[in-house]
Amino acid sequence: MSQDLQKIIAGRRAAEFVQNDMVVGIGSGSTIAHVINALGERVANENLNIVGVATSEKTRRNAAQLGIPMHNVDDVDKIDLTIDGADQIADDFSAIKGGGAALLWEKIVAFNSRENIWVVDASKRVPKLNQYLPVEVIPYGSDQLFKRFKSGGFHPTWRLDQNGNPVRTDSANFLIDLHLPIIESPRLLGDELIKMVGVVEHGLFTDVVDRVIIGNENNVVDILE
Ligand code: 5RP
Repeated sequence: MSQDLQKIIAGRRAAEFVQNDMVVGIGSGSTIAHVINALGERVANENLNIVGVATSEKTRRNAAQLGIPMHNVDDVDKIDLTIDGADQIADDFSAIKGGGAALLWEKIVAFNSRENIWVVDASKRVPKLNQYLPVEVIPYGSDQLFKRFKSGGFHPTWRLDQNGNPVRTDSANFLIDLHLPIIESPRLLGDELIKMVGVVEHGLFTDVVDRVIIGNENNVVDILE
């Protein structure tokens, strides 16, 4: 089964966890696009009454276009459930996120949510995290920070757009991707990165998720809790 189909079945299954009257954190990325579509259908066809909180401007636009009422994260009392994607999920349920440049808002929404579901295709599951790690940084002084990453052995690269300009996040920050070998201790690495002056947030998510929904090659989903 193709990766796209895995994303579709997993995304549609994840949308079934949303119940009436929930405030729902809505993640970012191509898998979450299927969650948004499914929620839009439920709002239109089942009179599902929800409020969405977006983890990116793109998600906010797409969800609103499908009739999902969207509120700002600071305008809701609580978030009941957040559904988001991931770039990699390890056996210890740590994850790398931020491939779509939305890691900061994703982390804020996740940490303010009572429950978190991640939805992925089977390629995202790995024994240990081993993919590039996005770090969101303040533009001011970011060349100095980049040099510190380099001398510290983090093998940094700037995230650039197709014109070669630095990608700007929805908070107008830059992204530096770190190219590390296997990440043995995501918590320790996260603690080290967040202490570096100029780092706003990193893409390591630990102790966040309650349920992982994975579209697999046999046209069904696996649910890990
Ligand atoms: C965006 C993210 C996404 O959740 C992650 O990149 C997964 O995206 P996709 O579903 O397109 O593979 O962290 O910052």
